Amino acid sequence: MNFHVLATPAEGLAGLVADALIVVLPADGKPQTGDKPLDAAIAAATKGGDFELKAGRTLYLHGVPGVKVARVALAVSRDGSAKAFRAAMAAGLATLKNRAVKHLAVRLVGAADAAHAEALTLAVDQAGYVYTHTKPSAEPVTMPAKVSLVVDKDAMTAAKLGLTQGQAVAAGVAMARECANRPANHCTPTWLGEEAKRLGKEFGLQVQVLDRKACEKLGMGSFLSVSRGSEEPLRFIVMQYHGAAKKDAPIVLVGKGITFDTGGISLKPAADMDEMKFDMGGAASVLGTMRAVAELKPKVNLVGIIPTCENMPSGLATKPGDVVTSMSGQTIEILNTDAEGRLILCDALTYAERFKPAAVVDIATLTGACVVALGHHHAGLFSPDDSLAGDLLAASRSADDPCWRMPLDDEYDEGLKSNFADVANVGSRAGGAITAAKFLQRFTKAYPWAHLDVAGVANRSGAAKGGTGRPVGLLTHFVLSRAARKA
Ligand code: BES
Ligand code: MN
Ligand code: ZN
Repeated sequence: MNFHVLATPAEGLAGLVADALIVVLPADGKPQTGDKPLDAAIAAATKGGDFELKAGRTLYLHGVPGVKVARVALAVSRDGSAKAFRAAMAAGLATLKNRAVKHLAVRLVGAADAAHAEALTLAVDQAGYVYTHTKPSAEPVTMPAKVSLVVDKDAMTAAKLGLTQGQAVAAGVAMARECANRPANHCTPTWLGEEAKRLGKEFGLQVQVLDRKACEKLGMGSFLSVSRGSEEPLRFIVMQYHGAAKKDAPIVLVGKGITFDTGGISLKPAADMDEMKFDMGGAASVLGTMRAVAELKPKVNLVGIIPTCENMPSGLATKPGDVVTSMSGQTIEILNTDAEGRLILCDALTYAERFKPAAVVDIATLTGACVVALGHHHAGLFSPDDSLAGDLLAASRSADDPCWRMPLDDEYDEGLKSNFADVANVGSRAGGAITAAKFLQRFTKAYPWAHLDVAGVANRSGAAKGGTGRPVGLLTHFVLSRAARKA
């Protein structure tokens, strides 16, 4: 798909040449485009009871007199925001589904800036995504080969920037979704390692994939303990993007890559266990973000680290009460083998120290408790560093990829005490998302750190079951904002 910016034709929208035109009208404005033939059609439709300026409404019009474009879709957005525009675009695109549209033009009535342009690419990409890897029979969606955002002359530069950034983010989101959607017998740790290498080749990233032996050498006793019950070999993936001077401290992203979480000996119930193939959503978001950043080439250094393995029960599997020694030297009593995410992340967080990072952000489908606390809208954001937390919240807003800051008071650490090790891997059930973060915090003393619990947002259940590609948008905006600050 190709995205372009088009200047509003001198003769107005009516003079536009394309196969279809989507006009987004904000509900808090007027039901008018400022274009006579179109406004006449809108007025007629409104009079006839076919159209109302209410958020979510759409109307498909064919052959509007005086308008060159044969197919016109109207879509009403809640307001003039980029977020509302994205939702309205999704509705507008739905009205054009299965119509032979090769060149789609899009017009937002009101001011369109870079954020709107980015929202457009995300909406179009989303509408075109169909999972086919293990379902070749899935009906494809035909999308326009060319999409033009029609804006006034003075808005063209911003719109172009937005489209460029949006396309990279959308490609990263798509990559994360696709990885997450692949079943655990396809998306294995080995496959993730190969995918990282493939990405490295395509975008010039430095990629290293460590196996069990190398992890043993590094002393990653905690990570190794999770993989013990699985026949599928583990991988430890390190990807590096160099966009700034060598001495520039990098941002490090660490993604939880459990390709399947049975719970291990602390076995999960059977219902919905299939969804634990999504337990590598954090890892997928790191891959997607590396892709987006590598395409945009900002002046920043970025490292992506992915510890990846399965969590399985077997005769060799780690047992409740087992004590392991992490790479940091801290011993861990594993009271619940289903709290495995923190066990693979803690060694990756210790490994991250070697990069002397400016900041480390880990992303993990870590706790069911976070889903209880925040549902499926906001990811949980945990950080003892107000400035880093602020940057991530700002990125979350600009990317329309919400997260909500959670507390990290030391009182929450109490429950992690163990009689047999430096720390236990679980506390009491209460505040489970926070105690999980407190566990991780013990391994992050060497750098500014934040943790994103994406258990509720990385994938959807039910009819729409599948990966969302979140929080690639948030992470990419965060990395870009750090690059922009230095520039
Ligand atoms: N991968 C799960 C968390 C999860 C749960 C993600 C539901 C998405 C949806 C994680 O490994 C886990 O099992 N966490 C336990 C922790 C508990 C044993 C302290 C949980 O949330 O129940
Ligand atoms: Mn688990
Ligand atoms: Zn898990």
